[in-house]
Amino acid sequence: VSNCFDTGTLAGLRVHITAGPTQEPLDPVRYISNHSSGKMGYALAQAATDAGAAVTLISGPVNLAQPDHVKRISVTTAQEMLSASLANIDDCDIFIACAAVADYRPTAIAEHKIKKGNEEIMELHLVKNPDIVATVASLENKPFTVGFAAETRDVINYARGKLAKKGLDMIVANDVSQAGIGFNSDENAVTLVTANQQTSIPQTSKRQLAVQLIEQIAKHYKTSK
Ligand code: CTP
Ligand code: CA
Repeated sequence: VSNCFDTGTLAGLRVHITAGPTQEPLDPVRYISNHSSGKMGYALAQAATDAGAAVTLISGPVNLAQPDHVKRISVTTAQEMLSASLANIDDCDIFIACAAVADYRPTAIAEHKIKKGNEEIMELHLVKNPDIVATVASLENKPFTVGFAAETRDVINYARGKLAKKGLDMIVANDVSQAGIGFNSDENAVTLVTANQQTSIPQTSKRQLAVQLIEQIAKHYKTSK
């Protein structure tokens, strides 16, 4: 597929996408993270590029090749992902938060490897990470902002709650309670939720889903202008 930079649905637009997990260090050899593969975010970066957008991919640590024609910024922690997201935000028309950001990080990073003690129970102290997509959506000159919601129950209600609370234009609700879809898998099924609309996209490959999501995002972006 060639890039239709002049004719695609996102021609001339700048799309920023966060992807993958974040890693929050505990000490020089350990971290807290999650099983996000980054596949959905990378597939979105590819689909947005194919639709003619100039894409910046702000990526946590993943095992994926850099998509062609995409500017990738590699980060490790949520705080780094926030800085990278805000650094070029004035250039951004559409911000898609696909990353599985660690909600909490250790309050302090030990300078040396933490030694095993005699006690059976060990307590970790964690502090809340900044909410990247909510921070972007609260900016005065905010881009069209899209979030993801990974839920195991009451999926649409929780997603609607996040849409409102974070000030998003759209949220992609993802039921991760079903085996074989969502987190760390090749396929996904989602429901796209805006303030007054709801569209289901049945289970398909993340590549196919990304193409459909980008089409829908482009449509809603244009209606919002
Ligand atoms: N998100 C973010 N920064 C965070 C946490 C989440 O940008 N610190 C974004 C995710 O990239 C996603 C959306 O917020 O687009 C929802 O993430 P999710 O983990 O489902 O929601 P939370 O608000 O963290 O709530 P909870 O995990 O308790 O369900
Ligand atoms: Ca979370």
